Amino acid sequence: MPVSVVIGSQWGDEGKGKIVDLISQDVDIVARYQGGANAGHTICWEDKTFVLHLIPSGIFQEGVDCVIGNGVVIDPVAMMQEIGMVRDLGYDVEGRLFISHNAHLIMPYHKRIEEAREKFRDGGAIGTTGRGIGPAYVDKFARTGIRVVDLLDRDVLRKKILASMEEKNAILEKIYGAEKIDVEALIEEYVEFDKLIDPYITDTTEFLCRSLKEGKRILAEGAQGSLLDVDFGTYPFVTSSHPTVGGCCTGLGVPPTAIDRVIGIVKAYSTRVGNGPFPTELDNAQGEELRKTGHEFGATTGRPRRCGWLDLVALNYTSMINGFTELAITKLDVLSNLEEIKICTDYKLNGKTIRRFPSDLPSLALVEPQYITMPGWKTDITGITDWDALPIEARNYLNFVTNYLEVPAHIIATGPKREQTIVL
Ligand code: IMP
Repeated sequence: MPVSVVIGSQWGDEGKGKIVDLISQDVDIVARYQGGANAGHTICWEDKTFVLHLIPSGIFQEGVDCVIGNGVVIDPVAMMQEIGMVRDLGYDVEGRLFISHNAHLIMPYHKRIEEAREKFRDGGAIGTTGRGIGPAYVDKFARTGIRVVDLLDRDVLRKKILASMEEKNAILEKIYGAEKIDVEALIEEYVEFDKLIDPYITDTTEFLCRSLKEGKRILAEGAQGSLLDVDFGTYPFVTSSHPTVGGCCTGLGVPPTAIDRVIGIVKAYSTRVGNGPFPTELDNAQGEELRKTGHEFGATTGRPRRCGWLDLVALNYTSMINGFTELAITKLDVLSNLEEIKICTDYKLNGKTIRRFPSDLPSLALVEPQYITMPGWKTDITGITDWDALPIEARNYLNFVTNYLEVPAHIIATGPKREQTIVL
């Protein structure tokens, strides 16, 4: 069976970009299935660093086609900027990038509404990336969204924007006291966008299913992480889509029976950007040290990421709901200088030890993480490519994690570059 899925197992920023870049050497198609330009996938090679927000990282692999599935919400401005960046780097995009005709568009009013809503939430702001993601998905499910296919007919586009704007301007003005949007200018902007995006618009579900029949291998790329999933994450502090494995089927139109590999990307410690519960957070000098060593600043917004110890209770939960068949453990090198490393193995809740990840906020606020302490390796492991060359303490750390989760690790990242990797 030919579909592999790459999924963030924590709160995003696990280093999926590097792993997708690596695995895409062995596939024919890389397909993104959810989220939008809220994601930031960083890829480093030949001393260059690139951040992609929408286009799958496979675009830098010769002979690999890239799909942006129907489950993605597309910001036209971000999309065109990114196509331009990839082209400027000397890579072909036309004929290799396929954008679903069913994907929904992010409109300027989505960003405005999001901004106003976050202010309205007062102390309860989600801390979103400000990319209009939530309101775009709201429109999708309210059946008032504007899709890529609508760009193909100017009259339809005009009618749909006009209908939507009447409501949106009323909401902006009357509820949030925010400025109205100029409808005619907006229509003009999207008509212009249509000319640029036309060559890429495709029935991507048909394309993917035909490719599967032809025996091609697909790598499905999730954005964000499982604990940000709108159903399974730390609701309401989540994103508005499904980074978990089911999102791959609904966001691309590939059948679940075609999936044979579910690769959980696990950062060797935990991070979270934005607000919401984070049981193993280190809100102290140790957390600051991890942030500095791991360059833990958002690839999309530049915000400092909150840092903490690895949380196996949370990982066990995301492994369960995704059915990980293997793990890729990233950023192990970041732990190099530590005397001791802690791993959370259980939570204490109301005096009871539990291994279940509670889904409600009040319980998550009360859980006390229970740790085991392992000796650090205190030597720089950056760039090691051989399992046997890892210090015994590092191997013990990894073995503890994989034994606990009962899932093998096939890839260990020992640095940001493609070649700084152990493949098992
Ligand atoms: P939104 O996706 O912009 O609506 O933001 C909702 C939550 O998800 C916020 O806490 C964001 O910080 C978080 N988030 C969204 N995209 C990413 C990502 O790519 N990495 C990490 N966190 C993200």
